[in-house]
Amino acid sequence: MDKQLNIFGFAGSLRAASYNRALLRTALELLPKGASLEIFDLVGIPPYNQELEAVMPDQVKAFKQKIKAADAIVIVTPEYNYSVPGVLKNALDWASRPTGDNSFDNKPAAIMSASTGILGGARAQYHLRQSCVFLNMHLVNKPEIFVTLAAQKFDDKGNLTDAKTKEFIALLLGNLVNWTRQLQATI
Ligand code: FNR
Repeated sequence: MDKQLNIFGFAGSLRAASYNRALLRTALELLPKGASLEIFDLVGIPPYNQELEAVMPDQVKAFKQKIKAADAIVIVTPEYNYSVPGVLKNALDWASRPTGDNSFDNKPAAIMSASTGILGGARAQYHLRQSCVFLNMHLVNKPEIFVTLAAQKFDDKGNLTDAKTKEFIALLLGNLVNWTRQLQATI
C-alpha cells in the first residue's frame, strides 16, 4: 500500500476573509485518498533580517521544520501589483536561509492563485514559479488554477461555490500526489 503523504500549505494573505486562504481551505475537501494537508498561517513570520539568521525566530524555525518534514508543498497566492505579496516573498526568503539550508530543496509543489481581477493572479504565479526555480522546487505544471473574479466564486463564509474550479483543484492535487510518488520512487 502507498505511504500516506503529508502536504504542507500556506497562503500569501494575512486577512481573515482572504479568498486565497479560503482557496487553500477548499483543498482540504478535495484531497485524493492517501494524502493529508496541514495549513500554516504566515501571520507570525517577522520581516526577514539577515542578522537574525544565526538565531532564527521561533516561528521561522517551526515554518522551516514543517516544510522539511513535508512530502509536498502547496502555495496559494494573491497578486499584488503584478507580483507576489511581500508577506509571501518574505516567508520564502526566510525558509531559503541560511545558505546551505534551503528548506524547499527538492520539494514537489503546486501553486494556485485567486484574484478579484480577470486574470486570477496569473502574473503573480509566474513570478512565484521563477522563485521556485531558484529554490529547487519541482512544480506540477498542470492544471493551472487561476481563480478569476474571486468575489463571485466564494460565498460569504468563504466557501468556493464554483464546481468547475473545484474539479480543477482536485485534479491539481491528484497530480501533485502522483508527481510526489514518482519523485520519491527515484530517490
Ligand atoms: C491588489 N489586487 C490585485 N489584483 C490583481 O489581479 N492584480 C494586481 O496586481 C493586484 N494588486 C493589488 C495590490 C494590493 C496592494 C492589493 C491589496 C490588492 C486585488 C487582489 O486580487 C484582491 O484584493 C484579493 O482579494 C487579494 O487576495 P486575498 O487577500 O483575498 O487573498
